[in-house]
Amino acid sequence: MPQLNPKTHFMKFFIDTANLDQVREAQDLGVLDGVTTNPSLMAKEGITGRENILKHYVTICNLVNGDVSAEVIATDFDGMIEEGEELANLHEQIVVKLPMIKDGVKAAKYFNDKGVKINLTLVFSVGQALLAAKVGATYVSPFIGRLDDVSTDGLGLIAEIRLIYDTYGFETQILAASIRHTMHIIDCAKLGADVMTGPLSSIEGLFKHPLTDIGLANFLADYKKGN
Ligand code: E4P
Repeated sequence: MPQLNPKTHFMKFFIDTANLDQVREAQDLGVLDGVTTNPSLMAKEGITGRENILKHYVTICNLVNGDVSAEVIATDFDGMIEEGEELANLHEQIVVKLPMIKDGVKAAKYFNDKGVKINLTLVFSVGQALLAAKVGATYVSPFIGRLDDVSTDGLGLIAEIRLIYDTYGFETQILAASIRHTMHIIDCAKLGADVMTGPLSSIEGLFKHPLTDIGLANFLADYKKGN
């Protein structure tokens, strides 16, 4: 069981979408700490063309208070630096999201030295998470749902990264990504993930309990009997 200081450590909730209505809805709930996006999520919303994509990031930043991860498309070091700088200059809430490949790690080190927040994404192993911490990434994103999809224990990866980061005092935040459902959120919280990012439905699932609905219906029925 991780020993986290409850006064300084709480689990952040990010929403994993580029859909503005869902971002607004999550923000209105009062539990949202940030947003993650990726090129597939942008495409799903029909946001295409560099200019529109950049504008969309700014719109998202203006809707929420926390960090907004914006992913580079380039896969070479120079391209990632150019694109990452453009993204970082868009808004102070932007976190530059880089793929966990050799040039992505180098670019993460470059940006960390410059004080730009980084999210290293597409992480599927403990070794990759170790590299992310070594270069001082702000966030590391292990994709637990996609690991589960290929019969590999996604939550187990979160536990292993937590153990290693705590052993050495790495400050990189574990951002449990590719969350598919509400139980993933609860299990990640038990394991001490610093952040989770998931669809709105996974967050809304936290509200639901049949006994709450039945209890409320009974309270209202009893009230009506006497009024
Ligand atoms: C993380 O930042 C990614 O956007 C995301 O969580 C991927 O999730 P998926 O496996 O549901 O596409």
